[in-house]
Amino acid sequence: DGFAAEKLFNQGYSYTYDDVIFLPHYIDFPTDAVQLDTRLSRNIPLSIPCVASPMDTVSESHMAVAMAALGGIAIIHSNTTPSGQAAMIRSAKSRRVPIHSNPIFSSPSGRIVSIDDFGDSQCILVTESGSVKSKLLGYVSKSDWMKLSDKEVKIYDYMVNSSVSVPWSSNLSEIDAFLEGKSRDFVPLVRDDEVVDVVTKEEVERIKGYPKLVAGSIGADGEWLVGAAIGTREQDRERLEHLVKAGANVVVLDSSQGNSIYQIEMIKYVKKMYPELDVIGGNVVTVNQAANLIQAGVDGLRVGMGSGSICTTQEVCAVGRGQATAVYKVSSIASKSGVPVIADGGISYSGHIVKALVLGASTVMMGSFLAGSTEAPGAYSYLNGQRIKKYRGMGSLEAMTKGSDARYLGDTAKLKIAQGVVGAVADKGSVLKFIPYTMQAVKQGFQDLGASSLLSAHDLLRSRELRLEVRTGAAQVEGAVHGLVSYEKKSF
Ligand code: XMP
Repeated sequence: DGFAAEKLFNQGYSYTYDDVIFLPHYIDFPTDAVQLDTRLSRNIPLSIPCVASPMDTVSESHMAVAMAALGGIAIIHSNTTPSGQAAMIRSAKSRRVPIHSNPIFSSPSGRIVSIDDFGDSQCILVTESGSVKSKLLGYVSKSDWMKLSDKEVKIYDYMVNSSVSVPWSSNLSEIDAFLEGKSRDFVPLVRDDEVVDVVTKEEVERIKGYPKLVAGSIGADGEWLVGAAIGTREQDRERLEHLVKAGANVVVLDSSQGNSIYQIEMIKYVKKMYPELDVIGGNVVTVNQAANLIQAGVDGLRVGMGSGSICTTQEVCAVGRGQATAVYKVSSIASKSGVPVIADGGISYSGHIVKALVLGASTVMMGSFLAGSTEAPGAYSYLNGQRIKKYRGMGSLEAMTKGSDARYLGDTAKLKIAQGVVGAVADKGSVLKFIPYTMQAVKQGFQDLGASSLLSAHDLLRSRELRLEVRTGAAQVEGAVHGLVSYEKKSF
C-alpha cells in the first residue's frame, strides 16, 4: 500500500511538505515514549530538534537563551558588526534562566540626565568600570532617580550601595526564592566577582507559568549552547575569531547556494584553525552539492533553497527544489557519512516538522514559526487590530542595506537584487510555551507512524516499511479545515 520514499522521490517531481502524506503505521507505545533527542551536527547533541534561523528578526540573545533552555539552539545572525554579534553570544551565555534582560551600567562618577538613560530597565547597575564584567558597587532605581530634584548630581551621591547578587548559574527557582525572600524586584548575576547580567521579578513571573523545562542545551563550557552565522569572505575569518572568543559552540556558513569554492575553502579553514568547532555548511538541495561539502569536512548540512516563507529565490533565480524532495535526497547521502541534516525553511506547523524529521532531517530550522514570539527581536505593533511583529528575509533589500548581502551576492556584484521580502507575522506568545506544545504534537505524529525516535523513523523510511503518497490538490484541501463558515484555530 502506498509508495516507499525511494520510489516516490525518484519520479522527476519536486515535492513540498504539503504535497506528500505518510500512511499510518502500527502503534505499540504511548506518546510520551517518543524521544526527540537528536544532533545538530556531528558533535552537538540537542534534546529537541529545533533550531532558530540566523535572521535579524529571529535570532538574537533572547531567542538564543530561550531555545537553549528548551533543549534546542539558535544561530545568532551576522547582520551586524563582529563585535555586536559576539556581544549577543556573550549575553546569551551569561545566565542559565531563559529571561530577557538588557542591563544598563554606569560608573559611580557618571550622571543620569534623562529617563531615557534607563532604556526599558527599571534600574541602572553601578559598577567600578561603568560596564558589564566589572565589580558591582550598587544600583540606581528609576523611581529613586525620579524623586531627585537635581538631576546633575553624580551617581555616587545618591546610588544605593549594595553588592547583593546571586551566582550567574542560578536556576529559576533559586532566583525566584531569592527575590521572594528579600522582597526585591531584581537581582544582579555575578560570575568571578563581576556582574554579568540582571534578572527582574517581572521576567521570573512570566516564565513560571510556562510548561516545565526539562533538559536545556548546555555545552562542554558549562554554558548555553549558542551558534553563530558567518559568511565566506576574507573578513569573515576575523569575525570568526571574535565569535569563537565569545564562546560560539558551532558556526553556520550562511549562504543560499553553499556548493562553492568559497565555502569549501572556508570549511577547510575553520577545521584547520578550530578543530574542536563544528562547522555547518549549506544551503544545499542536491546530492552532488552535499557530497562536495561532506568531502570538504562539514559537520552538518543545512538544506533548503527558496522554500522559506519570505524567499523569492526560486522566482528570481529559477533555482531551488521542493523542500520534501530536497530533505529526502540530501539526507540519503548525508546519513552515509554520519552528517546530520538541518531542514531549513518552509515550516508552518507541527505536521511539517514531522515530515522533515521522518524524511531524514535531524533538526528543523525555523524563521517565520518563531518570528512572532516574545523572544524574537523587535517590538509588537498592530495591523487591522492584530498584534504583529516584523519578519524579513535576509535577502530583502532592507536587510541587505544593513549588511547581509554576503549571503545573496557574489563578491563582485554591485547591483543589489532582492531574493526576499519584508513582512510581518502574528503574535504567538512565548516560545517557552508554544514549542513544548509543538513537540508534543510532533510526538503524536511519530507515534502514528510507529516511530519512537528519529533514528527509528529513519530506519522505517529506509527499510521501506513507512509508506507515502502524493496528495492531489483536492486531497490537500480535504486535509485542511474546510466547509465551515467560520472557526477558531487553536491547538493548545
Ligand atoms: P521560514 O519558512 O522558516 O524560512 O520563514 C526561513 C529560512 O529562509 C531562508 N531565508 C531566505 N531565503 N531569501 C531567501 O531566498 C531571503 O531573503 C531569505 N531570508 C531567509 C533561510 O534559510 C531561513 O532559515
